[in-house]
Amino acid sequence: MFNKRVKIKELLTWEPAQQEVTVMGWVRSFRNNQFIALNDGSTNNNIQVVAELGRFDDALLKRISTSASLRVSGIIAPSLGKGQKMDLMAHTIEVLGDSDAEKYPIQLRNRPTLEYLREVAHMRFRTNTFASVFRVRHALAFAVHQFFNEKGFLYIHTPIITASDAEGAGEMFRVTTLPFDNTPRNEDGTVNFKEDFFERATNLTVSGQLEGELAATAFGDIYTFGPTFRAENSNTARHLAEFWMIEPEMAFYDLEDNMNLAEAFIKYIIQYVMDHNSEDIDFLAQRLLEEEKQLPQDKRSEMGLKEKLEFVLKNDFQRLTYTEAIEILQNSNYNKKKKFQFPITGWGMDLQSEHERYLVEKEFKKPVILYNYPREIKAFYMRQNEDGKTVAAMDILAPGIGEIVGGSQREERLDKLEQRMKEMQVPVDELWWYLDTRRFGTVPHAGFGLGFERMVQFVTGMGNIRDVIAFPRTPGSAEF
Ligand code: 4AD
Ligand code: MG
Repeated sequence: MFNKRVKIKELLTWEPAQQEVTVMGWVRSFRNNQFIALNDGSTNNNIQVVAELGRFDDALLKRISTSASLRVSGIIAPSLGKGQKMDLMAHTIEVLGDSDAEKYPIQLRNRPTLEYLREVAHMRFRTNTFASVFRVRHALAFAVHQFFNEKGFLYIHTPIITASDAEGAGEMFRVTTLPFDNTPRNEDGTVNFKEDFFERATNLTVSGQLEGELAATAFGDIYTFGPTFRAENSNTARHLAEFWMIEPEMAFYDLEDNMNLAEAFIKYIIQYVMDHNSEDIDFLAQRLLEEEKQLPQDKRSEMGLKEKLEFVLKNDFQRLTYTEAIEILQNSNYNKKKKFQFPITGWGMDLQSEHERYLVEKEFKKPVILYNYPREIKAFYMRQNEDGKTVAAMDILAPGIGEIVGGSQREERLDKLEQRMKEMQVPVDELWWYLDTRRFGTVPHAGFGLGFERMVQFVTGMGNIRDVIAFPRTPGSAEF
């Protein structure tokens, strides 16, 4: 057996008392031909390996360079030096893999920027910032499953390849095996998808919601957590072409039940990370503080990362209708002084992210749930309110991020749903299976989608969504 190692995170909790251990990891630094800072990704804290002078060959010592991988066995003892509780006094050091320090793409002394690290995303896991981000991302994902499992929700795996456009927004990536030259065509010149793999046009899913509703109308409470794809050409710090979404769907829920669940869910997963990843949150809080020192005073966050998360846990989200939000925006000094790039044109307008951020960051200074939106700017499946103008939609807006959740109560009345689909040119025939839920034992139900990367951004304080997913897919970029 090769692997009898102790992980460094675990090791650092021990009281050093001459225990014999083996650790494995990658060299972060090597000082004075004697002190190796070794990291294995379990924590940002390194173990200090001491290679006593004279004990090891020069040839071996020369190979201990940045990012070389080592297996080290020895004895742990209280450290004589400052800054660490213990040293690992090495008996044997084995280089598992050499690393040419000059060619290694991440030279910490050059203070690599986040932009540069995106170009070497295959190696950026080995930096403290990304190690913390991805440990937090893991913890959030784990907490998502724990939250729903505790509440008796079923995890449903919805398809990645679909023939429908769940959001009706037409922002889909096509999936095909048809050739680009000599594409089979119908007589009228359109592509003949009968010749395609699935014998019809298919695409990558934009949302698992429609299939989620099928499951919710049998199991009651379900959720999905999977990759979703949008071919929207938005080159922003909040948009990915491939992102992960969590979509709970609940039978017998109205819009208010839906908002209550979403708020409890967000608080739960934040609390989980605060309880289990405090070291990483402290590190990321410090990173954000340093980063913001470069900014003018008025552009800096009012709260540190930890304070912000604690504040969100302690306070109720502000709930208000779309109509109330428009009034606030219209009457704001910001609007009167024409500080919005997109002017407030009045009721019925779609809110831009600057408007959402005004409400969250300037007006209420906490997460906001906006509900009852004009039906013209929302998807076909949302339940129509009695006023004939609005639908039972809700968006949750988070400070620094904007929209983090989108959801609604669903239209469970067959006639109203069919009518709305026709008005919005959603193919009623193709969605026969979706409409069957309304034909056979329809129930009031609701659900929402949380953009997982936006949530990770919120919790880690990372400004760009490309830095919270391992290998981002954005317009013009699909490396790694
Ligand atoms: O508001 P959206 O489009 O809602 C839906 O897809 C519904 N089917 C959800 C539901 O009710 N089950 O997307 C939901 C969330 C957004 O609030 C945002 O957080 C995230 O998904 N999102 C994106 N995240 C990253 N990159 C993109 N291009 C995103 N588009 C949406
Ligand atoms: Mg939305």
